[in-house]
Amino acid sequence: MTDFVNQNCMHDHTCGQLRAADCDTQVTLTGWVWHNRDHGGLIFIDLRDRDGYTQVVVDPDCVTPEEFATAEHLGREYVLQVTGKVRMRGEDAVNPNMATGEIEVLASSLSVLNTSVTPPFSIEDGIETDETTRMKWRYMDLRRPEMYANLKLRHDVAQAMRKALNERGFLEIETPILANSTPEGARDYIVPSRPNPGKFYALPQSPQQFKQMLMCGGVERYYQIARCFRDEDLRADRQPEFTQLDVEMSFVKDEEVMEVMEGVTAEVLAAVGVEHEFPLQRMQWKEAMDRFGCDRPDVRFGMELIDITEEVKDCDFKVFTGPANSGGVVKCICAKGAGDWSRGDVEKLAEVAAENGAKGMAWIAYTTDGEEKSPIIKFLGDEVHAAIKAKAGAEAGDLLLFAADTYPVASAVLAALRLRMAELLDIPREGHALLWVVNFPMFAYDEEEDKYSAEHHPFTMIREEDIDKIESAPLECGSYSYDLVMDGFEAGGGTIRIHTAELQRRVLARLGLADEEIDEKFGHLLRALELGAPPHGGIALGLDRVVMLLAGKDSIRDVIAFPKTSSAADPMTGAPNEVSQRQLKEVSLKIL
Ligand code: AMO
Ligand code: AMP
Repeated sequence: MTDFVNQNCMHDHTCGQLRAADCDTQVTLTGWVWHNRDHGGLIFIDLRDRDGYTQVVVDPDCVTPEEFATAEHLGREYVLQVTGKVRMRGEDAVNPNMATGEIEVLASSLSVLNTSVTPPFSIEDGIETDETTRMKWRYMDLRRPEMYANLKLRHDVAQAMRKALNERGFLEIETPILANSTPEGARDYIVPSRPNPGKFYALPQSPQQFKQMLMCGGVERYYQIARCFRDEDLRADRQPEFTQLDVEMSFVKDEEVMEVMEGVTAEVLAAVGVEHEFPLQRMQWKEAMDRFGCDRPDVRFGMELIDITEEVKDCDFKVFTGPANSGGVVKCICAKGAGDWSRGDVEKLAEVAAENGAKGMAWIAYTTDGEEKSPIIKFLGDEVHAAIKAKAGAEAGDLLLFAADTYPVASAVLAALRLRMAELLDIPREGHALLWVVNFPMFAYDEEEDKYSAEHHPFTMIREEDIDKIESAPLECGSYSYDLVMDGFEAGGGTIRIHTAELQRRVLARLGLADEEIDEKFGHLLRALELGAPPHGGIALGLDRVVMLLAGKDSIRDVIAFPKTSSAADPMTGAPNEVSQRQLKEVSLKIL
């Protein structure tokens, strides 16, 4: 039977395939010249392809003089076809770190399929070449084994997702890229329509509305590995175009969506050899915020937030009593092992606090030799200080960091400090930790814009018991929502949807949309909800983020074949580009 995987018309084995058992076989390999060296008349070539590399020996007695001359003048990344016999290496030449390290191929013929100019950087793992250079020559970067391994992992994850969902009766369905605006909280990428002067498509921030329409269309179980587009500030875990595993189901409650996705997640992890316990923990949103200060906690280490509002509310320190007596909170974290830090090092942390909105960062250090250092003990008094110390469980060698502010600000400040301290103290965060964070509030209040926004998106179902609070107390409304959190990242998010037009209208109105605007932007959705929409819900997992975490990388750019820079550009193709006057005219546009 033909070995479809390893046999092409130009080679019969890959460069990672040959072992001692293949000795004396005649083989033909193709690949790139990785390393080559001349050892007193014998030439050694490491020939590399996506599967690995093989040592090829060129002996002047075994090839023609022309072929030997060719071998003497090979450059890095030349493309070769080599035929020869597999033989064992001499005992002292065996390389146990290399899959093909026991054997070598003694060339009987070789030909250059293509030459290469000098590569812009070396094709090795762990290079420190700056990322823009790597992106400019991305095809060269992809020749590095670790990059190929990332693409392979991504493929394996995507295939395991497809398999698990297919087996559960889901249909893979594509939805439009030229679409209308769907709000997921970012700016839209817009595309002018030539036949409709002055009108634009929006690239989908997610297939959210289409998948709801599919449920209205009776599809019941849908998935798509979907490209999404969001014009937002980029970070290591954000790209302007990224990929979601997008899922939607009809006639389900939140618990069932989570169960199905846990089954899928378990199969994906098993497919790539990662162990994790199931079922996953479900943590209420409020508990996550109270204990970790954020809705995507990294639960692989402690250093949880400690609430000391009660302990300090009657002391004389205004920085604490102000927030404590006006609806705010005073909280702290206890960083074990930082008690001997210099004042300068501690004060540097105040920058992290300030970046997250803090007005200051009070601290108390307990040195290992029993001293107490702090700018605030003198304001607290002995009794309050003792109460804080006891509640925080602080001992010699610990550092307490405080935030006194509104609940959201104090939470954000301490969540950021907790992560920074884990980094600085090198706290082990091995393996993976997945959990659900559930029951987010429906609305958040945006002080700057003086209006409410949806914590997930406006199509999210409000808890029945809170529906009569939409107008009177929106911040008290809970929702049927669930985020899949992995290692401190939001790996996925979903909700049960509103399936009646009347409730959808009320929520959109609460978000500040006028009636006409609701009809203009969401008329199609409301009509669909009026025509017998089933109860439905779903979720989307960030494929890039999941693969990044499984690959142990710090950036999703490492697991995307052709990513963009932080200014949303592609250094390889030069996108985005200018267009001609004629193209602009065709779509009725003028550059200001
Ligand atoms: P959400 O906006 O939470 O939900 O997105 C789902 C998941 O997509 C990933 N993600 C991103 N990954 C890379 N770059 C980005 N810019 C980016 N933005 C989001 C995250 C996130 O958890 N329609 C809803 C889902 C639903 O309700 O079913 C949605 O898009 O991992
Ligand atoms: P001040 O009285 O402003 O000099 O502050 C005394 C100490 O409290 C300093 O160490 C400040 O960094 C700290 N501090 C000020 N505001 C806050 C706040 N909102 N939360 C925590 N610490 C603060």
